[in-house]
Amino acid sequence: MPPMASMIYGTAWKGAETGRLVYEAIKAGFRSIDTAAMARHYNEAGCGDGIRRAVHEGLVSRSDLYIQTKFSPHDDAFADTTRYPDISSQVDASVAQSLSRLQASDNPRDRYLDCLVLHSPYPRHEDTLVAWRALSAHVPEFIRSLGISNITHHELQGLLDSPNVNPPPAVVQNRFAASEHGWDAATRSLCASSKIAYQGFWTLTANQREWQTSDYVGAVAAGAGVSRAVAWYSLMIGMDIVVLNGTTNVDHMREDLAGLGRIVEWRATEEGEKVFEQCLAAMGSRTGTVHGS
Ligand SMILES: NC(=O)c1ccc[n+]([C@@H]2O[C@H](COP(=O)([O-])OP(=O)(O)OC[C@H]3O[C@@H](n4cnc5c(N)ncnc54)[C@H](OP(=O)(O)O)[C@@H]3O)[C@@H](O)[C@H]2O)c1
Repeated sequence: MPPMASMIYGTAWKGAETGRLVYEAIKAGFRSIDTAAMARHYNEAGCGDGIRRAVHEGLVSRSDLYIQTKFSPHDDAFADTTRYPDISSQVDASVAQSLSRLQASDNPRDRYLDCLVLHSPYPRHEDTLVAWRALSAHVPEFIRSLGISNITHHELQGLLDSPNVNPPPAVVQNRFAASEHGWDAATRSLCASSKIAYQGFWTLTANQREWQTSDYVGAVAAGAGVSRAVAWYSLMIGMDIVVLNGTTNVDHMREDLAGLGRIVEWRATEEGEKVFEQCLAAMGSRTGTVHGS
């Protein structure tokens, strides 16, 4: 499985444009894609179309990509209790649908997902465990790793402490924002000590003032010659947060990836690395430094 990139292309709220934007994202250089089976917010089938177009045109092969989708516990698609009488049958139906929609080519070897994320825990912990075990039955043949989203520190600890959680979560996908218990610092810390990749979403939308006005983001932007958005992304990555980038703008796709490259070059200079480390420390004291990685 290819490693999850430090910046993932996020496909929520792109509707009929999803296929084109996923294709453009791959063309621009993104290699990790996040979607969900939930039709209210995502167009998973469109995402698959974009992936297949890129593979068909030879831009990438399946093994170059990290493809992640979600099973959504409260999705209307699986609410019919006659067809899907319990959580396990809902999980199985959703996984089968995702595998078909996201299969990168006609080759049956391409029928797998790099990560399947449980979109949120259930109100009852026992139900979360039932869903987790149903997902686990597809690992490793069709799903390479599992994740969970919209989870509190307390719930994540409960999941890790439960018997038979095998495989354990490889990914946590949460909102990275001041309003989320101070940038979700406790959950990030637990992820670091448990070797779980922490993916942050709404990172621009929910942090406008922080990335647009703070001195430490401005210093990285000015030093490396990149936009404040890219400087913010680079600092997040410096804090071991995997960025979900939800742009609909092809110029932003290219500039964000190129900008991260420029920051690597800048950090290779003595002055650049010194400034970056100072700014990282400033961001850590603002948003919560994580221990345990
Ligand atoms: N697990 C969950 O429950 C959950 C919830 C929400 C989101 N997510 C995931 O996270 C992804 C990202 O979410 P999001 O789209 O709300 O968050 P976002 O990346 O914080 O916001 C994207 C917004 O920022 C703007 N933007 C401005 N400059 C940008 C730049 N240089 N690069 C990128 N964007 C720039 C974009 O406008 P332009 O389009 O004009 O660039 C867009 O309006 C989603 O697509 C989804 O995959 C998961």
